[in-house]
Amino acid sequence: MKTSAIAASIFAACAAAGPAPAKRASLPTVSVKGNAFFAGGKRFYIRGVDYQPGGSGANEDPIANTETCKRDVAKFKELGINTIRVYTVDNSANHDECMQMLSDAGIYLALDVNNPLYSINRDSPAKSYNKMYLQSVFATIDAFQKYDNTLAFFSGNEVINNDKNTECAPYVKATDRDMRSYINARGYRKIPVGYSAADVAENRNELAAYMNCGPDGARSDFFAFNDYSWCDPDTFEDTDWSQKAKNFSSYSIPLFLSEYGCKENKRTFNAVSALYDTSKMTPVYSGGLVYEYTEEDGNEGFGLVNANGNSVTDKPDFTALKDAFSKAPAPTGDGGYKTDNKPSECPKKSTHWDVDLNDDELPLTPDGVKEYFDNGAGKAPGLKGGSQEAGANTVKTGPAASGAVTTGSTEGSSGTAGGANAKPSGGAAAGLAPEFMFAPLMCGLVVLVSSVFGGSLIL
Ligand SMILES: *[C@@H]1O[C@H](CO)[C@@H](O)[C@H](O)[C@H]1NC(C)=O
Repeated sequence: MKTSAIAASIFAACAAAGPAPAKRASLPTVSVKGNAFFAGGKRFYIRGVDYQPGGSGANEDPIANTETCKRDVAKFKELGINTIRVYTVDNSANHDECMQMLSDAGIYLALDVNNPLYSINRDSPAKSYNKMYLQSVFATIDAFQKYDNTLAFFSGNEVINNDKNTECAPYVKATDRDMRSYINARGYRKIPVGYSAADVAENRNELAAYMNCGPDGARSDFFAFNDYSWCDPDTFEDTDWSQKAKNFSSYSIPLFLSEYGCKENKRTFNAVSALYDTSKMTPVYSGGLVYEYTEEDGNEGFGLVNANGNSVTDKPDFTALKDAFSKAPAPTGDGGYKTDNKPSECPKKSTHWDVDLNDDELPLTPDGVKEYFDNGAGKAPGLKGGSQEAGANTVKTGPAASGAVTTGSTEGSSGTAGGANAKPSGGAAAGLAPEFMFAPLMCGLVVLVSSVFGGSLIL
């Protein structure tokens, strides 16, 4: 056989393969528009739970375990949710099966990219913001960017947890910037990146403003906070949620509750009806996540279920939340979201805001990180080792978006189950599912290679 014949037959095989084989049903991807999320052309509200079976101290990945995933996805469906938040994953593990089970159940993932070994240490933020840390963060992005039901990445969780450690904020914001840079540099889907804050009264407004101020490349895609101030039988007006909704009414990016569910009294989850009410919260908030799915030792009273091996038993909280969700469907219209709010002003230094840098400055992306932008993060470290001591006690600072990569990511697909989606922003390949881009590319490559080595292949 002649080279040309080989090439031709490979070409024919590729052509015969034709349209990629039917892919499994996927969900429409979630993207940001104004101060809201959209999926499949419709406003998307987070209706979910925080999921960390084993508890926060376990440092375990609940979605690498197919058995517990299967056990719990059935319960998530029963509860009627569309999102889970996971706090820790092993970025070297395989998540295909659990992510598909979640997708099949209509459930998205909001994922923390940090874990106790690879994270910003609030006691030494400069030292812990380093190349080794970002490599782990980027490896997590590599592992999850391919799933259509990856909703969002959290750049940090409660790093600032009181009135005295706001000096950590620039390191959180730098990490947040670097994550967006990485997604852009790698040409991944534009998965929203933002921070999950502790609700600290003294710096609530400052921190939200800080994550949404400064140049384009340095502002978050969304902001979330953990709010336990609504304790049943409170109503919207009894709590400060009504004042918060007013205070954040001109906030320009999506806002949601990454944790809620005060356990002081019997939980009836009254907050749910306010959260999805167009006259109360939907113009400003995009829903929230109830803390938490499983009852845990050392954190008693928050769980919806008791889980042990294969068995899961509902606590009264499970039924209460299920009822609350069923009585408060997501609004059908756009919920009063806004597209014309302006980014925030950076907060001024004060007794409650201890950031010395100028508004337009941040820690610079650590030396050597650009190689990940160019080549990918490489081997995922998993839940071993640790990066917190790998840096120096001081970092270089400079223009906030210096070195940031601000373009290159693609819009998502509408999913096979979804309707019309936001238009791709441009570029011929934007919006195409990876399968459809790869098949022809691979074929092209095979043909090219076979022509180059063709000489030795002549039979
Ligand atoms: C609302 O904003 C005002 C002024 O900025 C602030 O003093 C107040 O504490 C805020 N209220 C809440 C509940 O965040």
